[in-house]
Amino acid sequence: MSIPPTATQAFDAHAEAYDRNLEPILAVKDMLHQLLRCQFSGLPDGARILVAGAGTGAEARFLAPIFPRWQFTLVDPAAAMLAVARRHALAEGFADRCEFHVGLVASLAADSFDAATSVLVSHFLTDVDDRQAYFAEIARRLKSGGRLFNADLCADLEDPSFASVMDLWLTLAALPDDRKLSFRAVFGKQVAAHGPAEVEAIIARAGFSAPAQCFQAALIRGWVADRHAVVLAT
Ligand SMILES: C[S@@+](CC[C@H](N)C(=O)[O-])C[C@H]1O[C@@H](n2cnc3c(N)ncnc32)[C@H](O)[C@@H]1O
Repeated sequence: MSIPPTATQAFDAHAEAYDRNLEPILAVKDMLHQLLRCQFSGLPDGARILVAGAGTGAEARFLAPIFPRWQFTLVDPAAAMLAVARRHALAEGFADRCEFHVGLVASLAADSFDAATSVLVSHFLTDVDDRQAYFAEIARRLKSGGRLFNADLCADLEDPSFASVMDLWLTLAALPDDRKLSFRAVFGKQVAAHGPAEVEAIIARAGFSAPAQCFQAALIRGWVADRHAVVLAT
């Protein structure tokens, strides 16, 4: 599986500014985190959580204080992003419950997690097979019935609503005008423009139950699913 090297390089280069740059969409991320908490609320006391594309650690930072015995494995190919995540975890007192893995999920040792998160990650995989392989690698590391919470930028370029939803997103994200133009240019090229039905089919084919869409705010959608007893081949 390949991810565009530019995506990792861009996250590495802007790691220190990442949290600040996301401030305009914090309310959206807060809501995603609330849904994540609900999706994971039945997990056992010592649950082990795979945080795929952990970035600066937002999902672990939200869950760790609420579930003080859970363990987190944060995976991300951008070393500088994980360095920020580690710093946050140390400052917030939960670093001893974290493992930090610089690399892809596929390079993580076989394991048996209770649940996995993937928030704003898989849309960087513009090739359908790569995107499916990414979810299959997550599925392989989950227990049977293990829970998945996934959120991504998602839109079907052919959908008549696309233009107005894109405009809403660019306003919500408060991008400067030059970055609005470049975001429009990369959407569908460096950011996948698989529509919601296609994303759901990709996740299901990777070894999960039919994903239930639980959230939408402009271009961001969220889904919940559970790992099948048997993970299908990719
Ligand atoms: C937009 S950030 C999201 C970070 C965090 N989940 C959040 O919501 O704040 C996307 C992250 O995914 C990582 N990433 C990109 N492609 C990936 C892949 N194939 N596997 C795992 N992580 C990936 C990037 O390095 C980046 O840190």
